[in-house]
Amino acid sequence: MPSIPIRILLSLAAALIAVASGCSRAPAPEAAVAVAQPRLIPAPAQMRVQGGALQLPAAAEVAATGGAGAEQAAARLSELSQRLHAHGLQRADSASASVHFELDAAAGLAREAYRIEVTDTQARAIASDAAGLFHAATSLALLMQVGEGGASIPKVSIEDVPRFGWRGLMLDSARHAQSVDEIKHLLDSMALHKLNVLHWHLTDDQGWRIEIKQFPRLTEVGGCRIPAGAAGRDPLSGEPSPYCAWYSQAQIRELVAYASARHIEIVPEIDLPGHAQAAIAAYPQLGLLDPALPVSPDWGVHSILFSVEEDTVRTLEQVLDEVVALFPGRFIHIGGDEAVKDQWRASARVQARMRELGVDSEEALQSWLIQRMERYLAAKGRRLIGWDEILEGGLPAGAAVMSWRGIEGGVVAAGQGHDVVMSPSSELYFDYLQSGSEREVPGRPAMIPISRVYAFEPVPPALAADKHGHVLGLQANVWTEHLRSYARVQHAVFPRIAALAERGWSSREQRDFNDFVLRLAALLPAYRALDIAYADTGFEVQLRADLKPGLAQATVRLSVDAGDVPIHYSLDGTPPGPESPRYSTALDLPLPAEVLAAVVINGEAQLPLTKMTLTADSLRLRRSPALMPATPKLVLRLEDDQPLDSASGDARAIFNVDIFEPRWEWPASPVGAGDRLRVRAGRIPYNFQLHGDEANRRFVPAVSPHGELRLQRGCDGPVLAEQVLPADTPAAGFAEFELQLQSGTAPTDLCLQFSGDSRPQLWVIDHIELLPATGRP
Ligand code: ACM
Repeated sequence: MPSIPIRILLSLAAALIAVASGCSRAPAPEAAVAVAQPRLIPAPAQMRVQGGALQLPAAAEVAATGGAGAEQAAARLSELSQRLHAHGLQRADSASASVHFELDAAAGLAREAYRIEVTDTQARAIASDAAGLFHAATSLALLMQVGEGGASIPKVSIEDVPRFGWRGLMLDSARHAQSVDEIKHLLDSMALHKLNVLHWHLTDDQGWRIEIKQFPRLTEVGGCRIPAGAAGRDPLSGEPSPYCAWYSQAQIRELVAYASARHIEIVPEIDLPGHAQAAIAAYPQLGLLDPALPVSPDWGVHSILFSVEEDTVRTLEQVLDEVVALFPGRFIHIGGDEAVKDQWRASARVQARMRELGVDSEEALQSWLIQRMERYLAAKGRRLIGWDEILEGGLPAGAAVMSWRGIEGGVVAAGQGHDVVMSPSSELYFDYLQSGSEREVPGRPAMIPISRVYAFEPVPPALAADKHGHVLGLQANVWTEHLRSYARVQHAVFPRIAALAERGWSSREQRDFNDFVLRLAALLPAYRALDIAYADTGFEVQLRADLKPGLAQATVRLSVDAGDVPIHYSLDGTPPGPESPRYSTALDLPLPAEVLAAVVINGEAQLPLTKMTLTADSLRLRRSPALMPATPKLVLRLEDDQPLDSASGDARAIFNVDIFEPRWEWPASPVGAGDRLRVRAGRIPYNFQLHGDEANRRFVPAVSPHGELRLQRGCDGPVLAEQVLPADTPAAGFAEFELQLQSGTAPTDLCLQFSGDSRPQLWVIDHIELLPATGRP
């Protein structure tokens, strides 16, 4: 029989209590103050809502017993409630303090677990470890409410314990780095969600970001790259304009301490034997090419690997010596992903080394290297973790596996008795976009809405019950090829991190997306108070309108990418709310029309409001996200490469493009007789290395020196119009073309393609617009 989620029972109980107290007795004094339903993310294992609240005086006191961990929890509550509610608490030893924290190892609570009891007179929190009490302080700060009657904490009893011990987020500081203050902000924000592991991706083909005293060139040389395209040149002098960043050992110690004070372990990653181009650019003797390649300005899978000479391996061990000294946590991540073996296969020296070592395949050679690293780390009391490719060729018993190519690697590894962290790209890659909004940041548009993160289950049915304990937990990864600023990292991380947190902390059964959405709405004020630049695009109503033949009407479809949440709309200019019509099926609207729409949660319209004035003209324009092929090969949302300090300031154009087969499609477009098609196009560097996938790249051969822009009826149909392309775009970065359409039949499937090789520069379309033959300004 399926078990009934605890929370449903609890909220039923709370409702009964509320009804009972409302019927049977006069309200208690504190009931005069409105108490909102307490809402926490992640959902506690058990929360009993008693009704009413503990009133906090203006100078409320907090007491702590049990030592440093209790003091820390008291300070945490005071600081967080000050930031969230402008209501701090004074540290005091008085028995009558409003809040009391008790650290008691003898209480027998599990790791990170805590208990909270809020009565009319006091809130008491107890835990058996400092992390548990810290989490209790976070919960209390989030439970606190401030209204006209002052500050209060709802009367609740909470018994809470995390489901998993690894609740992680991976930050890629190699492709684009973040400042120390930004990483502190991220750590603070992780602590708000009770996450406890920051996996820090510090080395890659595009940059080496960790200072290693014995090998200073790793950062001096490996910490800088010349970006592809215009971004890599100074706009005034034309000189190379490097992108440089690294973290000094002092900064790293500061961050490790900052994380530790929030009960977060930083797991550093030194990626090997692939993703090594920056290190090899700094010390070519570590690699196999002479001369070595520079630090890479490209994204994707590179073919550069470390050599396996004893000197190289010894250097890597010396690097690990410093890494281990900097990061006191249990795990060191050694990467192991995407190490394509072409270089090893082609190198006579590597082949000879394989014979020396007695290994008979390149996979076995990687396995030999991983085992060597594992032994080295184990001798220092550390555990090795790597991406799931480290399973290939065999893995030492103590090594742990991070499953990213789906969960299969994790299932296999756990089946073999390895500990695993589930981090599948299909659910937990936060550089995948969360919505189809035009306001999305650059990234990978294969969409991962928050509901998909929420639905993820780290312990799959395929895993035998006796292996479940090997699933340490889960982790979301934020790769930053396309997230060049911390603002964009935040857009990618928040609010999906809330869904991640609940899956990592709450039980398997506590899985109610509608209830989660209610609690998320209650968390957003905390995001704002903590200056978290979260994405609101997931809950933005997306409007898609198609002109109907005759151009007097449009079919309008509304959707929300976050998940199944109610959409309300209005057509009379009034703000939509719960009383407005609820959207269910496509609307046929006479033009012009003004559509306002919003998601309504808990009786309130949520921001952002979608407001769109639809006219026949406005619907004759389409931007690149709406022009992607129905069956794309590899769509990316990419940014123009204009230097940031150009006249355009921080703003760069963003384009959706299928980099394997760039084509832009408008099925059933409302083409009319004599229409022209205006195309606004830009040009961006094609800076991708895709290894085996390179063969999937398709382009139409050019006829004229710089190629042609072709408009076809369907991508394989007849050419309707053609425009010879210039050598490049004008200085502003955009070119505009106008194609004259002969065809008079509507609707028509339009397809646009640029002929010519898409390397090194790729033509991309920003938007297209159908212009009538006459009558348009
Ligand atoms: C990965 O995404 N290459 C781990």
